[in-house]
Amino acid sequence: MTVQTLEVPSPADFHVHLRQGAMRELVAPHVALGGMDLAYVMPNLAPPIQSSDEAMEYVRALEALAPHTRFLGTMYLSPKLTPDEIRRAAAAGVRGVKSYPRGVTTNSDGGIEDYEVYYPVFAAMEETNMVLNLHGELPSDADKGICVLNAEPLFLSHLEKIHKQFPRLRIVLEHATTRAAVECVKRCGETVACTITPHHLQLIVDDWAGKPLHFCKPVAKTPDDRAALRDVIREGHPRFFLGSDSAPHPLASKYPSPASRDNATQNLVHNCGCAAGVYTQPVLLPLCATLLESFGALDKLNAYVSENGRRFYQEPATPGRVVKLRRVTEADAAVPAAYVHPASQGLDDTDAAKLQVVPFMGGQRLAWCIESA
Ligand code: NCD
Ligand code: ZN
Repeated sequence: MTVQTLEVPSPADFHVHLRQGAMRELVAPHVALGGMDLAYVMPNLAPPIQSSDEAMEYVRALEALAPHTRFLGTMYLSPKLTPDEIRRAAAAGVRGVKSYPRGVTTNSDGGIEDYEVYYPVFAAMEETNMVLNLHGELPSDADKGICVLNAEPLFLSHLEKIHKQFPRLRIVLEHATTRAAVECVKRCGETVACTITPHHLQLIVDDWAGKPLHFCKPVAKTPDDRAALRDVIREGHPRFFLGSDSAPHPLASKYPSPASRDNATQNLVHNCGCAAGVYTQPVLLPLCATLLESFGALDKLNAYVSENGRRFYQEPATPGRVVKLRRVTEADAAVPAAYVHPASQGLDDTDAAKLQVVPFMGGQRLAWCIESA
């Protein structure tokens, strides 16, 4: 008999973007709405979070918007981050440092180009039990043969080098998209883990080419790569877990064509692109259950969305705390077509599009929904 209900112990999302301003007001409560008790929050704000004080202030602002969610703060790796600041941050409760290679994704202009200059910072992180979160892509460079399709495999030697140099430093390769990345993390020791997003368990190249809502970094890869991601979740490998990389962008930034006209000439600006990011937060747990069931891994749901990540981050689940899911019926609503900030009421379409965000699978019905949280 097929199961009709599921009980998930204290779900946790170890890679979340919650933004600033009106977008933050809209999306911070969506962590709980999507069934998650905990959100490990990325620091790529504008300007990025670069100190212990800023990270903790950000966590407090999020707690004010969503008092029942546990938020874990991070800082952005940059020359401003000193070993002393790492020690201060660790003492204050900041949990990790995120590294973005320069220019590869949203708000990464201040990203890094060379890891060795950060070795003193990594040494302080190793000493204070902080986690290094790696966005594992090299910047595209056609002269060197690097593009979005091979940017992740070509990054992996950096991961291996840092791990070899700092074997006790806990490292997470974020949002892996390739077979090469899965194999590399498996080869590493116990201190190296890997997040996998639900959208990368579903999408391949054909699903984002020409489709802004599915465009994110790293881009989804080939069917064989997707098979490797699904296999490692189906296997329940203990060092692979959920980091949704849920990354809200206003509709106006996903479909920027009207705004991309040059004001002076009214010509289209040809290099104008859409923002990178897929938004899954408000439906995250039902989405994970739906996808894992689709490839025969429903029995690994708890490992993927709670146990493995919590073990790696040393964040045990609250005893007895479970979120219950049940199968949807014809009477249940589909995923909303959009989430809209109340301030958008009465604005014209162009301005309203700046205050709404479209979720992954908007308008479609998932197989599971939250019964009680
Ligand atoms: C993220 C964002 O929008 O902040 N975008 C994305 O495509 N994943 C940045 C990131 O994590 O790369
Ligand atoms: Zn991210």
